[in-house]
Amino acid sequence: MNMDKAQKQIIDINMEENRRSEIRKIFDRTPMYNLSALEIDGRKIRVSKNHWVIDFASCNYLGLDLDPEMDDDVSSNIKKWGVHPSWCRLVASPEIYDELERKLAELIGTETTLILPTVTLISIGVIPALMGKSGVMFLDKSAHETMYEAGKIARDSGAELESYKQDDFATLEDLLIKHKNNPRKLIIVDGVYSMTGDYADLPKLVELAKKYDAMVYVDDAHGFGVVGEKPDERNPQGYKGNGVVKYYGMSYDNIIYVGGCSKAYSSLAAFIGCTNEMKKFLEAFATPYDLSGPCPTASLATMLKGLEINEKRGDEYREKLWKLTERAIDGIRKLGFTVINKTGFPIVSVVIGDTDKLIDTANILYEKGILVTVAPFPMVKRGEECHRITLTSANTEQEVDQLIGAFAEIKKYLEK
Ligand SMILES: Cc1ncc(COP(=O)(O)O)c(C=O)c1O
Repeated sequence: MNMDKAQKQIIDINMEENRRSEIRKIFDRTPMYNLSALEIDGRKIRVSKNHWVIDFASCNYLGLDLDPEMDDDVSSNIKKWGVHPSWCRLVASPEIYDELERKLAELIGTETTLILPTVTLISIGVIPALMGKSGVMFLDKSAHETMYEAGKIARDSGAELESYKQDDFATLEDLLIKHKNNPRKLIIVDGVYSMTGDYADLPKLVELAKKYDAMVYVDDAHGFGVVGEKPDERNPQGYKGNGVVKYYGMSYDNIIYVGGCSKAYSSLAAFIGCTNEMKKFLEAFATPYDLSGPCPTASLATMLKGLEINEKRGDEYREKLWKLTERAIDGIRKLGFTVINKTGFPIVSVVIGDTDKLIDTANILYEKGILVTVAPFPMVKRGEECHRITLTSANTEQEVDQLIGAFAEIKKYLEK
């Protein structure tokens, strides 16, 4: 099909003016993007007639996507509710939502929760709703791009968007002082950072928030289901997977917590942990609640079942996850690579530091049967181009050893 002139102009000009063109250009140079998964077997994926890759790009951290216990509950709920309740939530919600919202609130320890389909939708609905026409946002520069997008929407209505470097609390405090008379202040951070596995320093952030009457918006898309309360030697990221606020043993004062279910819980859903008053406010003010569609029934059912499995076996899965992650980090570090990971969280970024080498090494990984997330600029800063490995409890030690073996091949290539 020929491209019409209008389409061609739009694509060409955007390719010139937007740094995302660097991602588009990579599509033609590596098989590691836009793969079709033809078959899966545990964490192995068949991607062509005879080529299988081991999946180190999945964020199904607890392996619930493969759990045989999921099936029955999904079909019984679909029988009961149909595949998709197509009301926006303002109009009606199947009662399974009430049960889920109650159970999520119990798990994370908030008064209530409010479920919407994705963390992205929550951010673009909730952040502008909180900021109104003149609030001020303090955005951590390392926070997820989707919150920056949400911040820009809020800015379009008149709110101000300030930014500061991750953990630069002196700058953050200066900004809070600058805006001290603004009654709507929101500090915006990742709970667990998506490229480094760092944890937001919530004790420090909340201390500042309390001092200047601000709120901290915590996007815990990765942390929920993985990190949790009372960390100790056996489970250094804590128990129950009830999120980064519980990991620090903190209350939810001055916090608006957002948990994602599309990672650890393998379900298209996300939720806000908040007070009853905030929930009612968001039901009226956040557009994804009153103008957009709800989660598919299957996702609600897998979420509910996931919570049950989490109660029974979650800590066992998490213990396995820490061990696999440690094995991967140690093995790759021993080869001499710079591995970004100071927390032990199952996001392990191996720095390659140059786009051409990144692509060449991605191709080696692919040949050696390994799938990772290839992260060029602008996904990361220039010089920090990396392969992001994510581990799940459904991976095996043998698979991790194969991953390390593939990096040994990369090492040889880089030393040539
Ligand atoms: C920190 C963070 N926030 C938000 C998202 C988007 O989550 P969702 O798919 O639920 O919109 C991601 C996805 O990778 C993420 O890493």
